[in-house]
Amino acid sequence: ISLRMSLTNLHISVFCVAEIVAQDGWAVRYFSKYICAPKGSEVTMRCIYRYPKGHSVPKAFWTKEWGQGSEPPDLSDNPEYRGRVQYLGDEHNDCTLRLSDVREKDQSKYYFRFITDKPGGKNQGRGGVDLSVTDLQVEVPERVIEGDKVTLTCKTTCRLTVRPTLTWHRNGHRLSSRTDQFHLQPVSSEDVGRYHCGVLGQNLLSPEVTLNVRYGPKNISVSISPSGEIVEGSSVNLTCSSDANPPVQNYTWFKGTSLVAEGETYTMKKISSVDSGEYKCRSSNEHGVKYSTALSLDVLYPPKIASLSISPSREIVEGSSVTLTCSSDANPPVQNYTWFKEGGSSPVGSGHSYRALQRGSYYCEAQNEQGSQKSAAVTVSVKGI
Ligand SMILES: *[C@@H]1O[C@H](CO)[C@@H](O)[C@H](O)[C@H]1NC(C)=O
Ligand SMILES: *[C@@H]1O[C@H](CO)[C@@H](O)[C@H](O)[C@H]1NC(C)=O
Ligand SMILES: *[C@@H]1O[C@H](CO)[C@@H](O)[C@H](O)[C@H]1NC(C)=O
Ligand SMILES: *[C@@H]1O[C@H](CO)[C@@H](O)[C@H](O)[C@H]1NC(C)=O
Repeated sequence: ISLRMSLTNLHISVFCVAEIVAQDGWAVRYFSKYICAPKGSEVTMRCIYRYPKGHSVPKAFWTKEWGQGSEPPDLSDNPEYRGRVQYLGDEHNDCTLRLSDVREKDQSKYYFRFITDKPGGKNQGRGGVDLSVTDLQVEVPERVIEGDKVTLTCKTTCRLTVRPTLTWHRNGHRLSSRTDQFHLQPVSSEDVGRYHCGVLGQNLLSPEVTLNVRYGPKNISVSISPSGEIVEGSSVNLTCSSDANPPVQNYTWFKGTSLVAEGETYTMKKISSVDSGEYKCRSSNEHGVKYSTALSLDVLYPPKIASLSISPSREIVEGSSVTLTCSSDANPPVQNYTWFKEGGSSPVGSGHSYRALQRGSYYCEAQNEQGSQKSAAVTVSVKGI
């Protein structure tokens, strides 16, 4: 015995000596009794064998059947294995087999069998190699809420004998993880997508699984229709929109702090000046509530009920005057006040106030871009006349 024998050789030799003693010099040893391999991968079934001195081996092959009675078929003659099975062993003591592009149908026990040139010289390795073939499956938690710590797992149906390097993909784009787990901690709505895992360097991919992330309302905004100036008497829609998953359940409208309506769109028909104010919408689903920023609604209207006040009295003392003041509510505010004296055709003055020096009936007209309004007339008399 060589003293420079490697540890592996030593191990094999010891094993073979034991087998020879137990089995009259006939032995087959499989290095793995069980192999779990991913679909499409290449599997090597390592194997060594021994036979009594003086024999030589004209036939050595693998088979899926336990040989009793008739001679079991050689795997390499099986059309289903054509081009995929390769005997790496020899006619002396190595019986290693390589099977490539493994398929689900390959799940079976595999036995090495050899025949020698001496009468009765046959042996088949007991137990065989049990091959399981697995595909990949991405496991996603059932209910994922934004902010959760989520782990996606690439599952196999058996525990892989050789741990491969895995790959992860979202919507077809490669992700960084190389293990059987992909962590999303915390998960966000941007992680939504179709995921699959695969084996690096092999054409094996799991089916795609969709990750759905639930979240409360976000990106809430209010729009107004028609846009631009809102004129009294017109019809206006306020519409709230917000992104949420599941979609927003309830939209609620507030004017200031009072609730004024429910629903995505708040319609105000024949809008009036009292509808001016700050509006907000609230959107909610089962995961949260969100308020929009306030939208300021400014309803435009022409001057209303122009009124005249007079100071100090309706009577002018000879040589003095009274001041007439016109006021009116309008949006935008009154731009022009124009003064008229009844009976006259042209204005007698302009501005907020008018100093009347003569008797007569006066009225004002308030005007903004929306329209105009005339006041009732007041009569100014001169004392003693
Ligand atoms: C919010 O809306 C803007 C503009 O529509 C969009 O670009 C952005 O992606 C949205 N954000 C989210 C979280 O949906
Ligand atoms: C407001 O919404 C209603 C219903 O969707 C629609 O019929 C109407 O034309 C809208 N009005 C405006 C001013 O957009
Ligand atoms: C939506 O409104 C309905 C009826 O008012 C209420 O029962 C439900 O709880 C509301 N849902 C949310 C998420 O606020
Ligand atoms: C205000 O009144 C004056 C005089 O009548 C007129 O010339 C001017 O156009 C008016 N301005 C507006 C904005 O109505």
